[in-house]
Amino acid sequence: MGAEVVIEGLTKSFGKQAIWRDVTLTLPPGEVSVMLGPSGTGKSVFLKSMIGLLKPDRGKCVINGVDIVTCSEHKLYEVRKLFGVLFQDGALFGSMNLYDNVAFPLREHTKKSETEIRKIVLEKLEMTGLSGAEKKLPGEISGGMRKRAGLSRALVLNPAIILCDEPDSGLDPVRTAYISQLLVDLNSQTDSTILIVTHNINVARTVPDNIGMLFRKELVMFGPREVLLTSDEPVVEQFLNGRRIGPIGMSEEKDQATMEQEQAYADAGHHDGSTDDVRGVVPQLQPTPGLPERAGVRRRKDRVMRILHTLPPNAQEGIIESLSTEEQQYYGVRAHPVARAHHGQLPTGDVAQLPDTGWREPELRREPTTRRMPPPTQGRS
Ligand SMILES: Nc1ncnc2c1ncn2[C@@H]1O[C@H](COP(=O)(O)OP(=O)(O)O)[C@@H](O)[C@H]1O
Ligand SMILES: [Mg+2]
Repeated sequence: MGAEVVIEGLTKSFGKQAIWRDVTLTLPPGEVSVMLGPSGTGKSVFLKSMIGLLKPDRGKCVINGVDIVTCSEHKLYEVRKLFGVLFQDGALFGSMNLYDNVAFPLREHTKKSETEIRKIVLEKLEMTGLSGAEKKLPGEISGGMRKRAGLSRALVLNPAIILCDEPDSGLDPVRTAYISQLLVDLNSQTDSTILIVTHNINVARTVPDNIGMLFRKELVMFGPREVLLTSDEPVVEQFLNGRRIGPIGMSEEKDQATMEQEQAYADAGHHDGSTDDVRGVVPQLQPTPGLPERAGVRRRKDRVMRILHTLPPNAQEGIIESLSTEEQQYYGVRAHPVARAHHGQLPTGDVAQLPDTGWREPELRREPTTRRMPPPTQGRS
């Protein structure tokens, strides 16, 4: 099983420029998580801080009991071996062919023979659909192939944790769908903990078990996918729908005057750039038929059902509806049939019912405003 990553109060700045502060979240072992955020919010900085390539100002990032923020160089070197990282640009060595690029970590970090290395490299290249391309140089292949080669290289040490920085950037929607499927399949085969950093809404909606979002130097939220996907937090809604109207501007901060001007244009009928309302929980990608079920999914169900009562009603509803009838019986919950007809705000009587035994009283009868209640792990918001 993949390793758990516990991040507490992580804060990073460059000189006077604060990037993000007090980021607190846990990547559950073997689950897939996505960190969303507009460009420039420090997603790549976050990922690099997790592996100690950048040094946070304060806070903790604990993996297998080791806090990589404060540990010795030697310990950090050891802990880094648990990670496989796909950097934003693939970060392949331009002068090495794909075979040597993928073999590099094995030659660098292990004492394996070239015969053993060959077996592993060819296996990882096959996993990412690159069989036959071993001799190609990074400059001779497409962006999608470079991403997959970067992913192959990230996999050779059988990492317990895989970090992917914008695996979709520069890819067309079809290639993005393939790489999304690849990541899900990878998780099914390895049960590794995966964190994907992206601003791609489709990836965020279909791939992960958990979603977080960085905005205005803070973690807006982090929790089960259903929480963010049903959230009516303005910044989340705007981002999910790709709208101009909302707190996110062309440069990260948008002032009140601009917001009012844009709202006035929209009220006068000027299109705000969004497509359909994409809020709501869509089915999650499944592993390709023939591959094992994802162990993380079963563990996540137990985990999420334990914290269900702490989640906003829309998220509870989304979670309960994603369960089979047998699972609903097993967990002793049921979806209210009327609730299906509603989108967004549900009448209080129409939300899922929870059992009283063994559970805290479900907090279902809150005022609408408290539906923005933060999920279990999150930053200050
Ligand atoms: N090594 C660095 N030194 C100084 N500033 C940096 C460094 N790396 C990133 N930054 C700054 O941190 C901010 C966040 O960058 P980044 O993490 O790349 O954003 P994202 O990946 O979300 O698009 C940017 O303003 C960037 O200029
Ligand atoms: Mg980035």
